[in-house]
Amino acid sequence: MLAIAILASGAGSNFEAIAEAIAAGSLDADIRLLICNRPRAAVLEKAARRDMESVVIDHRDFASREEFDAKVVEHIKNSGAQLVVMAGFDRVVTKVLIDAFPCRLINIHPSLLPAFRGSNAQRQAADYGVTVTGATVHLVDEEVDHGPIIVQAAVPVIPGEDAEAIRKRILVQEHRIYPWAIQLFAEGRIEVEGAKVRISTKAQSRDQVLVSPPLD
Ligand code: GRF
Repeated sequence: MLAIAILASGAGSNFEAIAEAIAAGSLDADIRLLICNRPRAAVLEKAARRDMESVVIDHRDFASREEFDAKVVEHIKNSGAQLVVMAGFDRVVTKVLIDAFPCRLINIHPSLLPAFRGSNAQRQAADYGVTVTGATVHLVDEEVDHGPIIVQAAVPVIPGEDAEAIRKRILVQEHRIYPWAIQLFAEGRIEVEGAKVRISTKAQSRDQVLVSPPLD
């Protein structure tokens, strides 16, 4: 079983999807700790409802990003987590956190990276007029929304659809691919070769994830 720590700042729907996958037996992991930087975030209630350990580390209490990250690292190390999962964590992370968990820090972003990095990726997609966008799970490096890609899912953009509608449909795919990506770590199948991730083969293939939802 893979011990994980989740870093989140907001609604926590990805936190919930990961917890659900564990409860359903499709993800062989244990959430040791939720770390949240916003005292009133809804994700904290979601953890409490499941009797999961959580801690608030308010970034405003720290003089620098590095000092905040050092406190985050301390809590993760104490929890025994082997994989660190950023799920809607709205902080730019530093080398302090990245170097503490080499190839063990992952993030989910609501676009097909490298397109539409940064905030409001769904609005960027709507404004640009792309016909396909999606979600990406990737290893975290020092650039924002950047690093070796683990899994992606494509989501078609319906003409005339606004950013909020796109956001909702991307989330459906996020909830599907994030637990699956974590399961790849649990199975020891993630290998990093330079700028790329290689998924060692077993029963499931990456193709099974690259299916767009129907246009309904
Ligand atoms: C998701 O869209 C995720 O891709 C982005 O932030 C959002 C978090 O949503 N990084 P939630 O808090 O998991 O509901």
